[in-house]
Formats: sequence, C-alpha cells, structure tokens
Amino acid sequence: MRVLVTGGTGFVGSHSVAALMRAGHDVRLLVRRADRIAPALEPLGITAPMDHIVGDVTDPEPVARAVAGCDAVLHAAAVYNLDARASRATTETNLPGTQIVLDAAVAEGCDPIVHVSSTVALTRRGTTVTPDSPLSNLRSPYIASKAASEQYARSLQDWGAPIVIVQPGGVYGPHDPHLSDQMRRLKDVLKGRYPMWPTGGYHVVDVRDVAAVHAAVMVVGQGPRRYIVPGDHTHGRRLFGALRAVTGRRLPFLTVPSVLMLPITWSVSKIQPFVPFHIPADHEGVLINHNVTRCDDSRARSEVGVVPRSLEDSLRDSVRWLHEHGHVSVRQAGLTAGDLTGPSGRSPRDGGR
Ligand SMILES: NC(=O)c1ccc[n+]([C@@H]2O[C@H](COP(=O)([O-])OP(=O)(O)OC[C@H]3O[C@@H](n4cnc5c(N)ncnc54)[C@H](OP(=O)(O)O)[C@@H]3O)[C@@H](O)[C@H]2O)c1
Repeated sequence: MRVLVTGGTGFVGSHSVAALMRAGHDVRLLVRRADRIAPALEPLGITAPMDHIVGDVTDPEPVARAVAGCDAVLHAAAVYNLDARASRATTETNLPGTQIVLDAAVAEGCDPIVHVSSTVALTRRGTTVTPDSPLSNLRSPYIASKAASEQYARSLQDWGAPIVIVQPGGVYGPHDPHLSDQMRRLKDVLKGRYPMWPTGGYHVVDVRDVAAVHAAVMVVGQGPRRYIVPGDHTHGRRLFGALRAVTGRRLPFLTVPSVLMLPITWSVSKIQPFVPFHIPADHEGVLINHNVTRCDDSRARSEVGVVPRSLEDSLRDSVRWLHEHGHVSVRQAGLTAGDLTGPSGRSPRDGGR
C-alpha cells in the first residue's frame, strides 16, 4: 500500500515509517521541514530519498495534496510536551490537525486510517480501562487535546469510517529524534533532577512495539477498531527499580503523595511560561500518575499479536541510546554504557552533564 505518514520525523513516527517499509509499504511523508527527514530516518536504516510533501497538519491544502493518491494514512503528528510553555501549541495543533488529516483521508477513501491517540485520553482515576472506555474529562492541555482528538476519530468510526485508533502509553526506546517529553524526563531522572516521584502509576510501552502495532493494523477492509498498545503498568518504585537493575546505580528518590504534588506543580505550571528553562515538575505528569489508570491491553495482544518488550529491556536500550548520543554521561548510563567505554573507562561520546 502507499501510506501517508504524518509526524514521520518524530519518535513514534520515524519508527513507524521503518516498520511500515519493512512490511513492504511505500511511504509518503507530510513534514514541516524536509531537512528533518534524513536525521530522523537514516539511523533506522532508511537512506533512500523519501517521497514527501512539505506542510503543516493544520493547513488543509498541503494535507489534501499529501493524501491524494494514498491508500492509507498513519496520523502520528502532534505536539507531545507536558511543559506548560507548550500548552498553546498543543491546543492549536492536536485537535485541528487531527480533524484536517482524518477528514482528508476519509474524503480520499483511504483504508485504513490509523490515528495515534494515547492512553492519557482514557485517564479515569483508579479504573482499569479498555480501548473502548469513555474518554477522559480532565481539562489539562495535553490530556484534553488527546481526548478531543480521539473523540473526533471515534465520531468518524461511528459513521463507519475505517479508522483504527491506537493508544500508546508513555513511550520509551532508542532513537528519539527530538528527545521528546518522555525520553527527556528519563534523561533528567538519570541526572538526578527528579528526586521526588508522585504516587500513582501509568502505562508505558516501547516505541518499537508501537511501530509494530501500526504495521500490523495496516490492512485494508477490517473496519473501525481500537487498540491499547501492550506494555507495562509502571509507578515510581517499578520505574526506578528497573533503572537500578539496568544501570547498576543506586538512584535514590522519594515517593511523595501525588495529592501533595498536584498544587505545587500547578503553581509551577503558572510560573513556567515566564522562565527560560524547563522546571522538572510538570503538572500533567503528576496528574497522569495521580489518576493511576490501568490499561487492559489484551485486545492488541490477542488480535494484533504484539508481545511487548519488558520494561527493563526497553529502558536498557533507551539509556544506552541516551548515552550514545551524548545526553547522559558514562556514569549516569551506568552498566548500559559498559560496551561503549574505552580503556580509560570514559566514553568517547561522553557529552552528558
Ligand atoms: N512519546 C510518547 O510518550 C507518546 C505517548 C502516547 C502517545 N503519543 C502520541 O504519539 C504521537 C507522536 O508523538 P511523538 O512522541 O513521536 O512526538 P515527537 O517526537 O515530538 O514527534 C512529533 C511529530 O509531529 C510533527 N508535528 C508536530 N506538529 C506538527 C504540525 N503542526 N504539522 C506537521 N507536523 C507536526 C513533528 O514534526 P517536526 O519534526 O517538524 O517537529 C514530529 O514529526 C503523538 O500523537 C503523541 O500524542 C506519544
């Protein structure tokens, strides 16, 4: 099939492009900047020039040109950043971009049309959710934008459009071209910038498993469907325990009741827009943990057949990649940097601070 991919220069999108091409599909990209294609795709082994259209997902004209002649669509472009400074871009991009891309794909008769949602769109305090659970009614910018985007995708499904909604949890894994929010937080954990972690929990997945789901659902004629990407329910002790296991480091941290961290991080979110650096206390991150939503991912396991990597394997590859690309030092990467160090014990690419 000829598949249009939006967001192909990002973390989820680049791995998905690689998985789609391995599955034999022809891929066209909609990108904001053509010079971002090679840095995103070459590390994944894609060196041939890519068919692409330059444009923004919030602009109907380039989107219509990009969709023209495609059999299927993977819509992975969105703003994923819990930093309060990104709130406006999140609101202005995620729902409008989804409406424009999905509408254009339906008008072109594409099948399937895969919409990348998120488990945060299903956030409900203390519940176990399935892919069909009611959408979150939280009003914070990113969660609300993903819930509204999925609501739009669901409304098209109700009309019978062949839309496949894929809901990943927080994504870890190697090769993140923009060092997006989740991997930046992991880097900051390794640097000791998160000495406190809220109680609660959230669903996490590996980027390669997200890409595998996207490739597996790229089949014509299956109708509307929804899948939570298989992964792991994670909380502070689980995350830091897995990181200790893969790095061999002590990584001390304090678990703090999320109910106490919510007002503090809410205050930080009001100050953050006026501060030129990121304050590692994202309110929406605490909110997601606080709601401690568990995910029943059994449908994707049985119907799509994707068996998730362990959290330990995912984090080992993530930390090693962070080190290889100079985001964390050899000391911060711990055991994962073992095979990269020279006789001095220091990595030649030891650029982390
Ligand atoms: N990462 C996670 O933990 C996670 C978890 C659950 C769901 N998701 C979802 O997965 C999808 C991809 O996220 P990601 O983690 O891969 O984010 P990412 O690495 O930041 O990539 C975002 C992609 O979207 C593109 N994009 C952003 N705004 C655009 C616009 N206005 N027009 C055209 N392209 C635009 C970016 O292009 P540029 O290269 O030009 O910036 C980039 O290719 C999103 O829908 C996100 O909500 C992510």
